Amino acid sequence: MSVGADGFIGVFDSGLGGISVLRDMVAELPHERFHFFGDSANAPYGDRTAEDILSLSRAIVRRQLDEGAKAIVIACNTATAAAAAPLRSEYPDLPIIGVEPALKPAALAFPCGRILVMATSTTLALEKFQRLVLRWGSQAEVIPVACVGLVDLIEQGDLSSPEIRSLLEELVGPYRGTVDAVVLGCTHYPFVADIIRDVVGGAPLFDGGEGTARRLHEVLRARGLLAKAEAPGSVSFSSSVNTPSEIALYQRFFEQ
Ligand code: DGL
Repeated sequence: MSVGADGFIGVFDSGLGGISVLRDMVAELPHERFHFFGDSANAPYGDRTAEDILSLSRAIVRRQLDEGAKAIVIACNTATAAAAAPLRSEYPDLPIIGVEPALKPAALAFPCGRILVMATSTTLALEKFQRLVLRWGSQAEVIPVACVGLVDLIEQGDLSSPEIRSLLEELVGPYRGTVDAVVLGCTHYPFVADIIRDVVGGAPLFDGGEGTARRLHEVLRARGLLAKAEAPGSVSFSSSVNTPSEIALYQRFFEQ
């Protein structure tokens, strides 16, 4: 149940990846109160079944609602694909905004191009992604790449680790110089965007963060749920790995 414009915006991800979306949302809506929850103890979601992801997501949404959320942002492509539709049926009055791989803007920019879509295996396997490809990528050559292991490395927090570069060389190095665009279909990947761009040979990257922030803005406005223009806005973090160092890591990712 929605609590009106004074409530906060509950944002969650399987871990710290959703902080990339959070940054875009704070830039778009600086007067809102955001509360980010990272389920790092259960990451990666990309190796889990859709049922498992739905039950983890359901528990997070329930808790954020109990705490006073007026809207929920699923800042995770995998959890959006697995859980957004059932959660919207369970909470028909609650604004629930999801993230999906930014194939639409990539295909609009390169309608007949070769478009690499990097995502978790679950995101790529679920029907939502097949529908996205049919809708926006039917003229393009869409090349899905399941980036198994990448979320685990990013969750460790050392973005300059040689393991990240060598895994990316293995996953997307073979496409170097041969693709027109790369879609970052997991909210963790923008944190290693520079390495990805380098490994694929400079192709433009597309992620869903800004589109999600704009959509959140539209939905809040349409429902009369925007915070007052004089409200100071705030951001807070919590995690299922509830240690000071984990929260400090989230803060560092938010600020970088
Ligand atoms: N950030 C999540 C996404 O956007 C990562 C999923 C995972 O934990 O594997 O898909």
